[in-house]
Amino acid sequence: MAEQQRILSGMRPTGRLHLGNLHGALDNWLNLQRDYKCFFFIADWHALTTDYAKPESIKEYTWDMLLDWLSVGLDPQKSTIFIQSEVKEHAELFVILGMLTPVAWLERNPTYKEQQQELSHKDLSTYGFLGYPVLQAADILIYRAHGVPVGRDQLPHIELTREIARRFNYLYGKDVFPEPQALLTEFPVLPGTDGRKMSKSYGNCVYITEPTESVHKKILTMVTDTQRKRRTDPGNPEVCPVFALHRIYSTEEDRAEVVHGCTTAAIGCVDCKKKLLVRMDAKLDPIREKRRELEASRHRVYDIVMDGIERARAEVRETMDLVREAVNLNYGLGK
Ligand code: TRP
Ligand code: SF4
Repeated sequence: MAEQQRILSGMRPTGRLHLGNLHGALDNWLNLQRDYKCFFFIADWHALTTDYAKPESIKEYTWDMLLDWLSVGLDPQKSTIFIQSEVKEHAELFVILGMLTPVAWLERNPTYKEQQQELSHKDLSTYGFLGYPVLQAADILIYRAHGVPVGRDQLPHIELTREIARRFNYLYGKDVFPEPQALLTEFPVLPGTDGRKMSKSYGNCVYITEPTESVHKKILTMVTDTQRKRRTDPGNPEVCPVFALHRIYSTEEDRAEVVHGCTTAAIGCVDCKKKLLVRMDAKLDPIREKRRELEASRHRVYDIVMDGIERARAEVRETMDLVREAVNLNYGLGK
């Protein structure tokens, strides 16, 4: 049997995850972990590339994100779940790949300039930030991953990773690294409470493990079809962000009722939202429950991550032996 395909992805620790993250990335990860050998990690060094001057929250955000991952059902039996900075070989490979990556490749990377402009309040004219994609290439190549599930914004980084892999294999005349494929997570944009794309920077998020009452409050005050001003006005579900949530959470039957009720003004938006909340609760209650359980037994989370780190270390050891041999830095000393 052919070796099982290997999948890897990471997220920068930015705190608790929202519903956009759940339906955009995590649902996809949950599917992948059923069929592939998966590696999922917290990219805390990547967080440091932009937050080096104020790193206080990274640790807390790392635990928050890990708890959310486990709460939604990432399964440590199936997937290797770990923290980047605990597997030091990522840094070793980063150094080596840095030697053969032309600076011009990094300077022309579109996200480099974009991010510098977007985050202009931070000084990102650093060596580390320029090297962001080299570190990402190291993350991916060190597991010799075949597939990398990411959003569209990450495509330039995956392309760079492929170029670096090719260059390495070519320079040392060995196929050490397979060229990874981006597995695009295409998902309709999830609207936040103000109708714009759900995003932390807009402050319009509903968080995966947010308490029930708080979710209800947010949804009940959420923007609807703005043309529907009075209860007696008919509405248009097609342009309503609440209906976009019905598409995810509700049954076909619910949706048919909503469409009929809304377009004839037979139901009000509050009725419609309450119907939605029944379905959202059904999906989110078990996730909230799991998070509560995990919070009450932090040592278990600690053990899970420790085990993931050990497994990741065993994997990278094999790759790094091949890499050191390829670049002729294998001295046969020590372990
Ligand atoms: N750059 C990715 C992001 O911002 C995070 C990341 C770091 C990553 N290393 C990775 C994603 C390796 C996939 C594979 O979302
Ligand atoms: Fe939107 Fe529902 Fe109100 Fe129609 S009834 S406008 S779908 S919230």
